[in-house]
Amino acid sequence: MADPLHTIAATLRDAFAAVTGLPAADIDPVVRNSDRADAQANGALALAKQIGKNPREVAEAVVATGLLAAFCSSAEVAGPGFINLTFTPQFLAAQLAEAAADERLGVQLAATQETAVVDYSAPNVAKEMHVGHLRTTVIGDALVRMLQFVGHTVIRENHIGDWGTPFGMLIEHLLDLGDSAQIDMSDPNPFYQAARAKFDSDDDFKARARDRVVALQSGDPATLAIWQRLVDNSAAYFDTVYRQLGVLLTNDDLMGESAYHDKLAGVVTQLAAKGLLEESDGADVVFVPGYTNREGDPLPLIVQARTGGFNYATSDITCVLDRVERLHATLLVYCIGTPQSQHLQMVFKAAEMLGVLVPPARAVHVNNGNVLGEDRKILKSRSGEPAMLLDLVDAAIARGAAIVAERTEGLDAAEAAALGNTIGIGALKYAELSSDRIKDYVFDWDRMLALEGNTAPYLQYAHARICSIFRKAEVARTSVRATVPTIGAPQERALALRLLQFDSVVHDTIDKFSPHRLCTYLFELAQAFTAFYEACPVLKEGYEATRDSRLALCDLTARVLQEGLALLGIDAPERM
Ligand code: ARG
Repeated sequence: MADPLHTIAATLRDAFAAVTGLPAADIDPVVRNSDRADAQANGALALAKQIGKNPREVAEAVVATGLLAAFCSSAEVAGPGFINLTFTPQFLAAQLAEAAADERLGVQLAATQETAVVDYSAPNVAKEMHVGHLRTTVIGDALVRMLQFVGHTVIRENHIGDWGTPFGMLIEHLLDLGDSAQIDMSDPNPFYQAARAKFDSDDDFKARARDRVVALQSGDPATLAIWQRLVDNSAAYFDTVYRQLGVLLTNDDLMGESAYHDKLAGVVTQLAAKGLLEESDGADVVFVPGYTNREGDPLPLIVQARTGGFNYATSDITCVLDRVERLHATLLVYCIGTPQSQHLQMVFKAAEMLGVLVPPARAVHVNNGNVLGEDRKILKSRSGEPAMLLDLVDAAIARGAAIVAERTEGLDAAEAAALGNTIGIGALKYAELSSDRIKDYVFDWDRMLALEGNTAPYLQYAHARICSIFRKAEVARTSVRATVPTIGAPQERALALRLLQFDSVVHDTIDKFSPHRLCTYLFELAQAFTAFYEACPVLKEGYEATRDSRLALCDLTARVLQEGLALLGIDAPERM
């Protein structure tokens, strides 16, 4: 256990047991990070109460056991009974050596390993991917990587919108265009809009579109074949975007609304059997307690429309059932924008009432705010539509290439292109990930590509700089991994403490489903490294005695930066 907070907890538990006479197994020493010292133990407060003693006295007695001297140079009782702990350099060094010897850099596996489904990206067939899909795609992908890293079995699901009434008009429009019609999926909007316009203005077309939906829903083979063409076209386009963005999603992860179609009627029957179905305006609905409309009347979750058709909610309830019963998932993560919050909460509640979503299974809406332009409205393209994702990706790559052209020498064309890609895409993704997902944020190319500040290029550069130290020293990175560093200078100490937080930060990021927490940590780590590097010469003549120790700190920093960025889906090049 490289994380000092975990390591000291065992000793503190023994010390508290000795003082209170309570069994060690029942004791929580409440070890936390601290602003005043390296750590604090707050256990005395609750434990003293339990045995009817004064917390300060219990804390003093714990310090007096002398047990804390194994890792602390000072242990001071403060306030009502906190114990502020300052670690010895030897203890920090030993923890660092442990992290360095560990492929996982000290990050522990999750206590309970589960099957998790992550629902993310979810664009719609025959529509373009726009800026709104950027956040769910990038955040979802980072969560997939992190959940996997701590040992969960993760199933990615791309719940694309590939079913429902719009497909009647889309199929009819495609038929009108003739067999050879090619839809430009890099911008499917004109196709969609043309179909829509015809639907709105042409009654004959409208009637055909309606019939076509019925044919589709009833599984007419000819209709399904055309529908499949639309889906395949879009899937190829989504895949292009995913490859460019470097996310894990593949076509095997497609699990669109259509995948649940055959099960919808069965789920409605189950809802009815549980007595959950009610009639409202001719539709079959579930009234989920606690949800009301503007007038204060109970809000219905419509599962079957008056016309017999099923709804978005029906497929999402079915989808919960599928994830719990077929995939045996206990953690259901939904990375979807905030506007769908009420829909999802009602779906989750309905699945709970149905007896499907019951502990240990639970669902979490990992919601996200909007990406805004300078005008504080949803980021738009030049034509005034929401910005197209592919355009943003292309622009990011072009900007990355420009940075490489300006700064990096001695690369051939292919290397330069690859590096430009890594920088541009890294910046785009990191801008998403580093802002609190719940809030809106303003999209700003200059800020996200800056080499200073909480950006991907800054972190990538910090990593590349460490790689260059080793190149200059002509020392293999692995050769310093067995070196137990000496922690002397305050900057070494600060860097050591940061490095050792990696474990708790990764777990905290996962617990809160908030990638920006990991970003903030990596930024602080890079800053701690810069301060260390400025104050503590590594390769300079006259510093031979500390050289290996400092190289070991450099190496571990680079590894944490690289792993941290990898968990966010961002590459860390060795040269920049
Ligand atoms: N396709 C939907 C949209 O673009 C998002 C679907 C999200 N996933 C889900 N299980 N409802 O708005």
